[in-house]
Amino acid sequence: ARKAFKSWSKLNPKERGKYIFRIARMIQERAREFAVIESLDGGKPIRESRDIDIPLAANHFFYYAGWADKLEYAFPNKTPQPLGVAGQIIPWNFPLLMAAWKIAPALACGNTVVLKPAETTSLTALKLAELIRDSGLPKGVVNIITGAGETGTEIVNHPDIDKIAFTGSTAIGKIIQKSIAGSKKKSTLELGGKGANIIFEDAAIDQAVEGIINAIFFNQGHVCCAGSRLFVQESVAEIVIEKLKERISTLIVGDPLDKNTDIGAINSKEQLNTINNYIKIGKKEGGEIYQAKCKVAKKGNWCPPTLFLNVSQSHTIVQEEIFGPVLAIQTFRTIDEVIEKANNTPFGLSAGVWTEKGSKIFKLTQELNAGVVWANTYNKFDPTSPFGGFKESGFGREGGLHGLEAYLKLK
Ligand code: NAI
Ligand code: MG
Repeated sequence: ARKAFKSWSKLNPKERGKYIFRIARMIQERAREFAVIESLDGGKPIRESRDIDIPLAANHFFYYAGWADKLEYAFPNKTPQPLGVAGQIIPWNFPLLMAAWKIAPALACGNTVVLKPAETTSLTALKLAELIRDSGLPKGVVNIITGAGETGTEIVNHPDIDKIAFTGSTAIGKIIQKSIAGSKKKSTLELGGKGANIIFEDAAIDQAVEGIINAIFFNQGHVCCAGSRLFVQESVAEIVIEKLKERISTLIVGDPLDKNTDIGAINSKEQLNTINNYIKIGKKEGGEIYQAKCKVAKKGNWCPPTLFLNVSQSHTIVQEEIFGPVLAIQTFRTIDEVIEKANNTPFGLSAGVWTEKGSKIFKLTQELNAGVVWANTYNKFDPTSPFGGFKESGFGREGGLHGLEAYLKLK
C-alpha cells in the first residue's frame, strides 16, 4: 500500500475516477452473487442484501467516482491532498456496504487502502478483492487482509498507516483512540448507538408503526443506528403497542435465503448470547417482555422479535446497545420531556421523529443530540448524505461531501 501510494496519488484524478467507476459497474454486474454470499455468510435476509446492501455498495463507488476529479471544487481556496495509506477496520453487520463506504472515498481522494473485514463475515470482502483485481486497479492500491482483533491491532499500530477508519463497538473505538494518541495518524470512528424513535399523537399511526418495525428489526437489529428505544406519546401508547404486537406476530423469522424472510439469523453464536443476556437482564430489572411466537428450525442462531414494556431510563436495556431485535418502549407526555430522555444515553448517533407537524420536526432536529435525525421515515441511506455520530458514537462523517474530508489533508 505504501509503495502503491506513490503512483496512485499522482495519477490524473480523472483516471482514478474511471477505475472507481469500473468497480461500481462490476459490483452491479455481480450483484446476485454478492447478495447470496452476503446472506449465506452473515445471516441477513436475501431481500435486504439484494435490494439494499449490494445496490448501495455499488452506488457508493459510483458516487465517489464522480468526486475524484472535482476535489478542488469541494474545498475552494484549499489544496486537497491524500493522507497516504488508510487502515480500515469494519464490522460484520453490513460487510460489503461498509467496505464500500470505506474504500470508495479513500480511493477518490488518492489514498491507498489496507482493509480488514470482520472475522465472521469476510467472504464478500474477499470477493470484492477478486473483483478489484479483475478491474485492473494497480496492484497494492487496495489490500484486503482477513483476521480477528489482533490483525486489527497490527493495522492500528503499523508505522506505515496514516489514517484509521473504524466502524465497530465503542469499546474497541476507545482502545484505538488511545493507541494512536499523539501519533501522526488521523482517525474517524463510527461506533455504537441507542437510537430514539419518537412518535407523537398527531403522527400517521400505521405508517409510524411500519417505521418502528423497520427501525428495530431491519438486519436483525444489527444496526448501529437502529431505533432501539421507542418513545410513544401517552395518549396513543395503547393503540401503538397493540398494533406493534400484532405486527411482530406476522414477521417471518428464518432462512436468510428465503425471499419471504423478514428476520434472518443472528450473525454469530456469540452475538446471540449477548442478546439473550440482555433479554435476561431486561426481565430481571422489571421490564415486561412480549415476544412473537415464531416457528424456527431447531438448528441456527434465531431470536424472535422482542418488545420490552414498562422500562425506564435507568434500565440497562435502555442505556446499552443490544444489537439485536429487541425494542425498549417508554411513554412520554411533553416534547421537552422526550427530548431530555432521548438525549440521555452515552450515544448520539441516530433518532427518528413521527409527527405531522413541521414545527415539531424542526425543534427535534435542533435539539436531539444525534448525528442523523429521520422524520417520518427511518434507516434511509444514500451516498449523498453524510452519516456519523456525536458523543460516544464516534466522530467524523462518511458519505456525501463530508465523507471526503476524512481522507484528505487540506492545505
Ligand atoms: P468489535 O468492535 O470487536 O469488532 C469490529 C471490528 O473490529 C472487527 O473487524 C474486529 O475484528 C475488529 N477488532 C476487534 N478488536 C480489535 C482491536 N483491539 N483492534 C482493532 N480492531 C479490532 O465488535 P464485536 O465484538 O464484533 O461486537 C460487540 C458489540 O459491538 C456488538 O454487540 C455491538 O453492540 C457493537 N458493534 C457495533 C457496530 C457498529 O456498527 N457500530 C458493529 C459491530 C459491533
Ligand atoms: Mg469485540
